[in-house]
Amino acid sequence: MTPQKKQVINEEVKWDKTQTIVSKTDTYGTILYANKAFTEACEYNALELIGEPHNIIRHPDMPKVAFKALWDALKKGKNYHAIVKNLTKTGKYYWVITDFTIDKNEEGKTTGYTGRRKAVPKSVIDKIEPLYKTLLDIENLKGEKISELYFEGFLKEEVGKNYDEFVVDLFKEEAQKKEQKTQQNDEGESKIKKGLNWFFFGDFL
Ligand SMILES: Cc1cc2nc3c(=O)[nH]c(=O)nc-3n(C[C@H](O)[C@H](O)[C@H](O)COP(=O)(O)O)c2cc1C
Repeated sequence: MTPQKKQVINEEVKWDKTQTIVSKTDTYGTILYANKAFTEACEYNALELIGEPHNIIRHPDMPKVAFKALWDALKKGKNYHAIVKNLTKTGKYYWVITDFTIDKNEEGKTTGYTGRRKAVPKSVIDKIEPLYKTLLDIENLKGEKISELYFEGFLKEEVGKNYDEFVVDLFKEEAQKKEQKTQQNDEGESKIKKGLNWFFFGDFL
């Protein structure tokens, strides 16, 4: 599946970052459902999205290995988290952390996947963006396999955990820092905390 060639603008799209962006796909990644937050962030309407491959919003700054790791996990039946930069209809971008879950029918057969996304603090993006740039550079110069092997080596030697744990811990750490700051500012329960509750403790807003 090759995403359409689109003009890329180095500008973040404006979207309501308190919202959760949701999409559902079949087992091939064809979009079957998109919520309002999704259509607002990506600038496509639901009719433009439904029935299209999810790579309709693939950003060229994303290394292939990030999606390979996602699909490897889903095919093994594992839920997964990933930090993704997405491309909007007009070529802008937005960063999200996605919680991918597997949809099953009554017989336990996988019928598709659901992605639920929250906005990512800038401090997390600042840590992930250089890694993705390195992976993309290696991919372009030395090929996809070498990029994949570098990614494995990086996670083992510099992070000490797999990518899924890495991004969840990174997101939690940064959100907690923000929460502490907010508490210091005496603003009571922060929106970030609510977001985390939704994401990690099942408190669906
Ligand atoms: C539930 C679900 C949600 C996805 N969400 C995104 C997304 O937001 N952005 C994206 O670029 N790819 C997303 N993907 C992955 C795409 O299917 C695709 O693998 C990716 O865009 C890379 O494109 P390619 O496989 O054509 O290289 C999602 C896949 C699934 C199963």
